[in-house]
Amino acid sequence: MNILVTGGAGYIGSHTLVELYAAGHTAVVVDNLSNSSQESLRRVETIVGANIPFVQLDVADRTALAAVFAEHKFDAAIHFAGLKAVGESVAKPLAYYRNNIDSTLALVELMLENSVNNLVFSSSATVYGDPAELPLTEQSRVGVGITNPYGQTKFMIEQILRDVCVANPQFSATLLRYFNPVGAHPSGTIGEDPGGLPNNLLPYVTQVAIGKLDSVKVFGNDYDTVDGTGVRDYIHVVDLARGHIAALGHMQPGAQAYNLATGTGTSVLELIAAVEQAASKNIPYEVVARRPGDVAACYASPALANTELSWRADLTIQQACVDSWRWQSQNPHGYENH
Ligand code: NAD
Ligand code: WQD
Repeated sequence: MNILVTGGAGYIGSHTLVELYAAGHTAVVVDNLSNSSQESLRRVETIVGANIPFVQLDVADRTALAAVFAEHKFDAAIHFAGLKAVGESVAKPLAYYRNNIDSTLALVELMLENSVNNLVFSSSATVYGDPAELPLTEQSRVGVGITNPYGQTKFMIEQILRDVCVANPQFSATLLRYFNPVGAHPSGTIGEDPGGLPNNLLPYVTQVAIGKLDSVKVFGNDYDTVDGTGVRDYIHVVDLARGHIAALGHMQPGAQAYNLATGTGTSVLELIAAVEQAASKNIPYEVVARRPGDVAACYASPALANTELSWRADLTIQQACVDSWRWQSQNPHGYENH
């Protein structure tokens, strides 16, 4: 298949390109590089041994995107493009609603106009808000207790795509609810490259390990969890990327959500210990106040994706920490130019 990949220069998109080419697919990437660097695509090209067409554009720019549809024939689109920083979304709600929703509307309008009827969308565990039950399943309640505009955009876009599928019975929307993506490609040449202070735990921990940051701030140790710190379902980004290839192989008309998760929860302290082992370093940390909006624990059953997509997460959290550390130590300043 030839796949339009929006946001393909980003963390998850770049890893998914590698798996797309490994599975025999080809891709055209569009990205405005607002949170990424074209260097990631150059490195992906080195890994896959092919040139990947790239157009720098804003997905919400219908005219620019229409030209890409006019030039290429697509079998499906994978829509990664979006802003994703939870805290920033609280400070800049309009920017998040505008960017994430407008880009989705423009993409889906052009897909329908060009008879491209298969969409894989990057949704998020955040749609479950404050989990009503654990492990979460696709039947679990969504939309209650979402504490930030970023999460609301994912919830709203899921609904928009369901409505599009009702109105267009030929259209297929696969809503992949990612849990906590971590790790990097085993080559150490592509990985997560957060600009500024990392928002997410693992890049923060690896930056402490390499000496760029002093100590990990553990956001609370008085939760009702194994050691009092927050528990999450960390999934290796290569497993996550492969989930998209599995989804492309099982596109059915209608909207269907899948949890891309491991089923296992890991605490903040357990994750720090795993990086200490991977990096053979002592990682200093201090316990600070809880972060507003955080839940105690969040992990999911991947059973539906196991049975319907024939997909499962194979890589361990220890492997993810080894791969993250390889990426961080080989690229202390990430891609350097964004
Ligand atoms: P990322 O920021 O690394 O990648 C997103 C890419 O989209 C970036 O390259 C950015 O430049 C691009 N982009 C943003 N808005 C755009 C626009 N309007 N037009 C064109 N390009 C645009 O993020 P990621 O971690 O790779 O996440 C990919 C997707 O997965 C996002 O939609 C994100 O919300 C979702 N997601 C991420 C996580 C996570 O923890 N990383 C978890 C759940 C869901
Ligand atoms: C993980 C755990 C923190 C940083 C976020 C988004 C979610 C999804 C993934 C996109 C929590 C603790 C963290 C630190 C810490 N993104 N922590 N010190 O909050 O589960 O999910 O990213 O969809 O929508 O909300 O991930 O990596 O920020 O936090 O103690 O410096 O680590 O409290 O328990 P989170 P995270």
